[in-house]
Amino acid sequence: MTRVVYVNGRYLPYAHASVHAEDRGFQFADAVYEVCEVMAGRLVDETRHIERLGRSLKELRIPQPMAAASLARVMRETIRRNRVADGIVYLQVSRGAGPRDFLFPAAAVSPTVVCLARSVSPSKLEAAAETGIAIKTMPDTRWARCDIKTVMLLPAALAKEAARADDAKEAWFVDRDGYVTEGASSNAWIIDREGRLVTRQVTPAILRGVTRTTLMDLLKRHAIEFVERPFTVEEAKAAREAFITSATNLVMPVVRIDGQPIGNGAPGLMTQRLRSDFHDAAEIAKP
Ligand code: PDD
Repeated sequence: MTRVVYVNGRYLPYAHASVHAEDRGFQFADAVYEVCEVMAGRLVDETRHIERLGRSLKELRIPQPMAAASLARVMRETIRRNRVADGIVYLQVSRGAGPRDFLFPAAAVSPTVVCLARSVSPSKLEAAAETGIAIKTMPDTRWARCDIKTVMLLPAALAKEAARADDAKEAWFVDRDGYVTEGASSNAWIIDREGRLVTRQVTPAILRGVTRTTLMDLLKRHAIEFVERPFTVEEAKAAREAFITSATNLVMPVVRIDGQPIGNGAPGLMTQRLRSDFHDAAEIAKP
């Protein structure tokens, strides 16, 4: 089936979907994005993703390209046209195109909007969750506004590449004081020796993950205690359980950090339970 990509108001065949050579997303990483889960053809946590996109745009003073409802319509239509049942939808908004200049272009320049949808095999993801993933830790070399979901992802790409060289699926960034900030494309969690769930509090050092927020809703619903505080790599290595959250991985068990097994080296029971219950707390859009 030919894939279709939404670009600035048109649904184009994949091979012909392109943006201008002087798009600021391309030259300055002057763009923001969202990745949402698609489950059985439905968008998961659409409201939170669209709200976060709006916040990212506002923080960078990129004009909102269209109303939230219209953005949702674009995402749904992209999913539909690509016949994605299970997978992800990717939405990117850049400040637009113009002759290369660090200064923002004139107000008349409209943002560039791109939307793609892709199938992801649920069984492959489940297989990964059954074995759990390995993490490699490394210094956090990113900028000071990681709360904005920009496409400035080179440190994340380099980190994941370095992780892969060590047979790890994800990298955890570590700040100068030895505390884990977050994953290259996920939030980091542990279950400490007291059995409490721990994840770093939201500051400009991390992204407020939608999966993280929805998981917190689930935890509250089941009266499962959690604390938002930083944790060190040493504490993570000694934790009972560890996991990551993201729209692409949901709740994914971590079984090794820098080669050291976590707990008994298998996915933790609480992590598995949270993974299987996750969608109970998520907003599932109507088809
Ligand atoms: N990344 N932290 C970072 C740095 C991320 O890039 C992501 C998501 C998250 C988790 O956010 P959420 O739960 O809303 O997916 C945390 C997406 C999946 C990506 O870049 O592919």
